[in-house]
Amino acid sequence: MNFNIPRTAAIAGAVLASLACAMPAWSQAYPVKPITLVVPFSAGGPTDVVARLLAAAMGKTLGQTVLVENKTGAGGTISATYTARATPDGYTFLIHHNGMATAPALYRKLSYKPLADFEYVSQVVDVPMTLVGRKDLPAKDFKELQAWAKAQGDKTNLAHAGLGAVSHLCGVLLRQAMGVEMTTVPFQGTGPAMNALLAGQVDLLCDQTTSTTPFIKAGSVKLYGVTTPSRLKTLPETPTLQEQGLKGFQIVVWHGIYAPKGTPKEAIEKFGAALRTALKDPAVVQRLTDLGAVIPSEEKLNPEGLRTWLDQETQRYAPVIKAAGQFAD
Ligand code: MLT
Repeated sequence: MNFNIPRTAAIAGAVLASLACAMPAWSQAYPVKPITLVVPFSAGGPTDVVARLLAAAMGKTLGQTVLVENKTGAGGTISATYTARATPDGYTFLIHHNGMATAPALYRKLSYKPLADFEYVSQVVDVPMTLVGRKDLPAKDFKELQAWAKAQGDKTNLAHAGLGAVSHLCGVLLRQAMGVEMTTVPFQGTGPAMNALLAGQVDLLCDQTTSTTPFIKAGSVKLYGVTTPSRLKTLPETPTLQEQGLKGFQIVVWHGIYAPKGTPKEAIEKFGAALRTALKDPAVVQRLTDLGAVIPSEEKLNPEGLRTWLDQETQRYAPVIKAAGQFAD
C-alpha cells in the first residue's frame, strides 16, 4: 500500500492549513476562545458588579467564557485607550459609563475619540446614585449633614474614583449645590472607596446603588439621599436630594459596551445578542432590580441606541464641565 500523499495534494493541504491560520478567528464559528470584557474601575465596584453578572450569563449563550479584566486608572480613560488600540478581532470589549461622554471635556489630551474610535454594541443598564456616609457620622439626615460639612470647613473627606468617574462628577456637583468645601480623596474605583468608607477612613461617597444597596440594607453606611428625580422602589423611605433642597440635582449612570473600531459586524451582533438574552434572564433581571438598576428599553439595546445616546450626552456634559472648571491633561 502506498502511504505517500501525492505532492500536489500535500501542497494544497499546506496552503489550506496556512490560510486557516491566517484567517481571523471570528470568521470561523465565532467565538472560538474566551472574550475579554474590560472594566475601567476596580473589582468589587458597581461597574465590575454589573460586568461580572452579565459576563457569566453571556458566556452561557456564547459558549465561551467572558473574562472580566479590570484595567483601572485615570477615571476610566486608561481602559478606553487600551480598547481603542486593541486588535479588532471580536475578542476585546469595553463596558463603560457616562465617563465616555465626559472625558472629551475633562481631559485636554485624550488619546481616543469616543464618538469615532469605537464600534458601538449596546446600552446596558441605568443606575441611580446614592450619597452615603461613614456609619459613625454625627449627621442623622441630609439637613444635618449640610450643617456639619459647613462647620468642618474643607475637612470633610469625599471619596471618588478619579476625574472622569461618576462618583467624582457627583461629588463636584454636590459640593457646588451644597455650597461647601470638601477634601476629595481619589481611588481606582468605588470598590476600594467603599472599603475606606466602611473602615471610617473617609466621610462621604457618592456611588451607584449596584454597589451601595447591600451596605445600606446592612446598616454599615448612612444614607443621605438618592440622585434620581423620584424615590427608588428599592429604598422607598429615602428622600431624593431634590426633595431635600438641591433643586435640579439629578444623576443617573448609564452604561454602554464598546469594541475597537473595525471589529467585525458578526462579532458585534453576536455579543450584542448575548447581552440582550442576558438582560431577559429572570435571575439576572431580579439581581439587577434588587440592586436598583433599570434595564433600558429595546430601542437603546443596539449599536445605534448607544451611539446616539453617547453623542447627546457628550453635548450635554460639555458646558456643565466647562462651568465646573475641572480639567486634567
Ligand atoms: C466603579 O465602578 O468603581 C465606579 O463606576 C467608578 C465611578 O464612580 O465612576
